[in-house]
Amino acid sequence: MKDLIHRAAGDLVRSKNAVALTGAGISVESGIPPFRGKGGLWERFDPMEYAHIDAFMKNPAKVWDVLIKEMKEVIDNARPNDAHKGLARLENLGILKTIITQNVYGMNQMAGNTDVIEFHGNFAWQRCMECNNRCETTKIDIGQIPPRCECGGIYRPECIFFGEMIPPQYLRVSEMAASACDIMLVIGTSATVQPAASIPLIAKQAGAKVIEINFERTPLSIESSDYIIMGKAGEILKTLTTEIERLFNIGSSPD
Ligand code: OAD
Repeated sequence: MKDLIHRAAGDLVRSKNAVALTGAGISVESGIPPFRGKGGLWERFDPMEYAHIDAFMKNPAKVWDVLIKEMKEVIDNARPNDAHKGLARLENLGILKTIITQNVYGMNQMAGNTDVIEFHGNFAWQRCMECNNRCETTKIDIGQIPPRCECGGIYRPECIFFGEMIPPQYLRVSEMAASACDIMLVIGTSATVQPAASIPLIAKQAGAKVIEINFERTPLSIESSDYIIMGKAGEILKTLTTEIERLFNIGSSPD
């Protein structure tokens, strides 16, 4: 693993325009559960019953009571981990230009990244379905389910439910970032949900190197990753940024 991390550090130091695509796996070390696999949300909840827009419109109280309430508890308590901090450091060093994230908890911004495309929207804010008033999720009173705005309308998270379109502007800027980058870091995603899963393929077809960081191999590993660094995202990003700082000669003591 160490050899691959050193290889990635060299690749990133030489790159001119690195972009990252992240998924739920990057936040697992912050205590946020993934969707698929062991301990995943979809192991406990049927996404068609709790995460589809039709299910929400039919019975918002049920979806709030089960899924959204739990997600709110997570966002009220979770903090960025070493993987998020590592990506913030890479932006700070001028290496990482953009993050395209499928995650909705705002951890990258909390860690300090400024160019973040929230492909599946944002759970940090709720929007009234009647008057469009916005309220921070942490400030929503869940004493009443579903929570309502002063106008009486029901709040919904600003993230995408299954059955909803990716906002075209997010799709467009993500595709543009993917086709312009020279390295795409793909971190902690099962790469199974479209159209996000196509983003690394766009990068690859445009000539970028695709470097995956994940616990396990994914369909992407076979299709288009140049190499995969297997392990925990937080540990890998920490070692990777330390190695990049060494290559940049940052933090070394004067002779
Ligand atoms: P998944 O839950 O499908 O996949 C998480 C990936 O992270 C898996 O490939 C794991 O092996 C990997 N993983 C887990 N822990 C890790 C760790 N500590 N370090 C590195 N890798 C780790 O999550 P996504 O691919 O993000 O969409 O899911 C995509 C979309 O499916 C989500 O955005 C969501 C969901 O349904 C919507 O809600 C619209």
